[in-house]
Amino acid sequence: PIYDKPMIYYPLSTLMEFQNRDILIIVKPSDLKLFKNLLGNGSKFGIKINYKIQKKPAGIAESFLIGEKFINKSNVCLILGDNIFHGIPYREILPQNSNFNGAKIILYKVQDPDRYGVAKFNKKNKIIKIIEKPLKTKSNLAVTGLYFFDKNVVNLSKKLKPSKRNELEIVDLLNKYKKKNKLSAEFLGRGGAWLDAGSIDDFYDTTAFVSAIEKRQGFK
Ligand code: G1P
Repeated sequence: PIYDKPMIYYPLSTLMEFQNRDILIIVKPSDLKLFKNLLGNGSKFGIKINYKIQKKPAGIAESFLIGEKFINKSNVCLILGDNIFHGIPYREILPQNSNFNGAKIILYKVQDPDRYGVAKFNKKNKIIKIIEKPLKTKSNLAVTGLYFFDKNVVNLSKKLKPSKRNELEIVDLLNKYKKKNKLSAEFLGRGGAWLDAGSIDDFYDTTAFVSAIEKRQGFK
């Protein structure tokens, strides 16, 4: 749990804020039962939840191969299960057009960009590349774990080759869109919060953050 509720509730509610009602949860084999017990088919939340297993941690982009049937040639939004967003301007960020073409990422300024995918910009402030955990800082704008893709995402994912750490990398997929000039970015400003609760420190910081806001406002 993050503070008083299961971690998955946070990314799930972000998807719901973005008007997604048809959701595929991808889990490792040993977690499937836990998630199914917790969330069921989603009807108690007014959504439809399906499940698929990722046998090994073979990369975030593998989700588009695992989810090929589910995606079924529609546009898709992906969120990582440990990413927690607060104060997102949903209407501004959501691709408005159902004919949305390309990929869209959300960038957030952080002090430790080398822990994430990072956007490298040219002098005209245009993204030239996304780099995973760069050794030399390219910018302080981290790529958050919330992505929008058009229907080409499955075919492009099929063309990816495993990286040195043997994963299908989400940044390689983003760079494929970039090469076609179809990668766009939105910024989540200082009024919004993005936390990745994937490390122990972040986990406790996120719990403290949620606790402070929830106690103050009374909203879950
Ligand atoms: C993953 C992605 C990275 C992204 C991050 C966001 O990293 O590979 O590009 O910035 O999620 O949370 P991981 O958390 O797997 O290290």
